[in-house]
Amino acid sequence: MKPSQPLCVALVGATGAVGEVALELMARRWGRAVRVHALASEDSVGREVSFGRRSVVVEALSGFDFADIDFALFCAGAEVSAEHVPRAEQAGAWVVDNSAQFREDPAVPLVVPEVNPDALADRRSQIVANPNCSTIQMVLALAPIHRLFGIEQVVVSTYQAVSGAGKAAMEELGRQAVDRFNFRQPTPTIFPQPIGFNLIPLIGEIEANGSSTEEMKMVRETRRLLAAPNLPVHATAVRVPVFNGHAESIYVRTQRPIDLDQAHAAWADASGVEVAPDAEPATPLTHATDHDAVWISRVRRAADDAHGLMLWVVADNLRKGAALNAVQIIEALWDARRPAAGATH
Ligand SMILES: NC(=O)c1ccc[n+]([C@@H]2O[C@H](COP(=O)([O-])OP(=O)(O)OC[C@H]3O[C@@H](n4cnc5c(N)ncnc54)[C@H](OP(=O)(O)O)[C@@H]3O)[C@@H](O)[C@H]2O)c1
Repeated sequence: MKPSQPLCVALVGATGAVGEVALELMARRWGRAVRVHALASEDSVGREVSFGRRSVVVEALSGFDFADIDFALFCAGAEVSAEHVPRAEQAGAWVVDNSAQFREDPAVPLVVPEVNPDALADRRSQIVANPNCSTIQMVLALAPIHRLFGIEQVVVSTYQAVSGAGKAAMEELGRQAVDRFNFRQPTPTIFPQPIGFNLIPLIGEIEANGSSTEEMKMVRETRRLLAAPNLPVHATAVRVPVFNGHAESIYVRTQRPIDLDQAHAAWADASGVEVAPDAEPATPLTHATDHDAVWISRVRRAADDAHGLMLWVVADNLRKGAALNAVQIIEALWDARRPAAGATH
């Protein structure tokens, strides 16, 4: 950790959907304790982005020198991370990467701070991978259940908002909604099929086993985060015409019989999760969007099965699914490295 004062942070992808939320969170949580460099592609150079009440002029990532940077937060896609994360790390910065580029590298910790904070003690690299958005919200809900009853199988269907595919995807949903109301055939550009008033049961590419890349992220990353390398996870990932906030219907089978009171007590003690009452279940619009918490609702035992639990989980994919989790990782890294008060050098 370089002794820069104030803390110097580079945000790559500052003009994107996740980057904008990251700027908002950093301004709210860290205020003037940080100096931020907002980085994006050459197209955005000179634009201004909001950092709290201040504005920051966007710089180009391509020629940016990371030498004075304490933390670099990458929110610009896997290709950009593949090219630029290594040079940020070599310059001495700690890197939190939001893309899938390093998530399967065993030398790079994959971290949800409420679930596996100890993984941050791994010193093999200065890169930390932020998990996939759908995985983050699912493991936050499941970690207490796993500790109590031992999960032996997960079956999940996702209902993923278009913001998960970035700003241009949100614009596409808006355009297609207008097209439908005007009896025009929409022309998909971001999604492979029309998303307005539709559902698309394919996110990413199909892998050799027939599952999509998004589904396999949930399989592989859940196993890593819950330290359960052989856990059967069966995922179906669906894109839905919701602007923001992912939802998931989850069935869990456990080794030990489930006690619902114990499950609720564990969620009440856990940080980052809230349980909504049955009469008013959590929805992407009313509970998730612009909120930090992961919301659990519709909790019930699977019919005639003492080992089966059903639940509904929603969260803001741009927040806990991306920017907030990354910001919390930076806070944990910073806390671990901050000189103790009164320490002399
Ligand atoms: N959206 C989510 O819910 C979510 C959740 C978890 C993880 N993620 C990950 O977070 C990352 C960003 O997603 P997003 O939804 O924010 O995407 P987005 O809205 O499309 O924003 C992409 C950002 O990357 C920048 N960028 C693109 N190419 C670049 C280049 N060659 N050099 C520098 N900057 C470049 C863009 O800058 P310009 O404006 O200049 O093009 C923009 O700021 C992705 O890796 C995504 O997988 C997203």
